Amino acid sequence: MPLIREAIVVTTGPDGRPHLAPLGLIERPDALVLAPFRPSTTLANLERHPFACACYTDDVRVFAGCVTGKKRDWPTVAAARVAGFRLASCLAHEELEVVAVEADALRPRFCCRVVHAATHAPFLGFNRARFAVIEAAILFSRRHLLPAAEIADGFARLRVLVDKTAGEAEREAWRWLEEAWAQAVAV
Ligand SMILES: Cc1cc2nc3c(=O)[nH]c(=O)nc-3n(C[C@H](O)[C@H](O)[C@H](O)COP(=O)(O)O)c2cc1C
Repeated sequence: MPLIREAIVVTTGPDGRPHLAPLGLIERPDALVLAPFRPSTTLANLERHPFACACYTDDVRVFAGCVTGKKRDWPTVAAARVAGFRLASCLAHEELEVVAVEADALRPRFCCRVVHAATHAPFLGFNRARFAVIEAAILFSRRHLLPAAEIADGFARLRVLVDKTAGEAEREAWRWLEEAWAQAVAV
């Protein structure tokens, strides 16, 4: 299995505005591959405008905010080499051009070449609460596919890491996910 990096992928909508979504980037020797599910805004945007920025951030509120809808309007700035945007506050980003599409009814693969890469801030080490937020955000984003008990168990296990190792940003991200999950099960 290839390495997958979790990033905030910024695509451009038909109105020319940035669209942010957490996505896994699949590392291949010759390409970075985006695999958005159908239907999704990211997929529609890539089909129309085959450029994106992969933004690497340690602010996990961006992941939790996007999947829960609690906050999507994170500041962006213009990309350097492609027509598009990147997250303003990120440790690093890569600007991508789609060079091939592997068709699939459910999850096409957009194979990208890196047009430009830049580093903006230092990486200051791993944190278990951030990992927990990313995992919970993935569980939440698959709530229509997974049994509710599996998601609830996952949240219970991950909450321990947040209690032990979170800072204020991680606690806020966790709160958004807990609230959104409570709302989803109440419906
Ligand atoms: C860490 C993380 C990784 C994700 N990776 C993918 C992915 O590779 N493909 C995908 O379709 N959705 C992925 N998701 C879910 C999307 O972010 C979510 O479904 C989002 O709504 C995309 O839809 P949109 O483009 O319509 O906003 C991921 C979510 C998280 C939290």
